[in-house]
Amino acid sequence: PKLTVLTRDGDARTVDAETGLSVMENIRDNGFDELLALCGGCCSCATCHVHVDDDWINKVGPPNDDEDDLLESSDHKNENSRLSCQIEMTDDLDGLTVQIAPED
Ligand code: FES
Repeated sequence: PKLTVLTRDGDARTVDAETGLSVMENIRDNGFDELLALCGGCCSCATCHVHVDDDWINKVGPPNDDEDDLLESSDHKNENSRLSCQIEMTDDLDGLTVQIAPED
């Protein structure tokens, strides 16, 4: 499936994502160094925060409870906020677009 990632500057790049990995892992593995993902995907750092494109947020769905608690600590949380390590890439998400959230 295709995954389009917008950097903080708004540059867009589309990559071939691997299913079974998280969106965070797909972003990281494609060399986007803006996404720190310091905790490695165990939902404890919030440095993998992304804003999911409006067209995709319903399909991706809302954050889980732990994730939502972490997002609350961000100054850049909005209604499209997710932690990208908590989104599993699937074929259903082919075309998904996310923007890396500003640094807190
Ligand atoms: Fe740390 Fe997602 S990588 S919360």
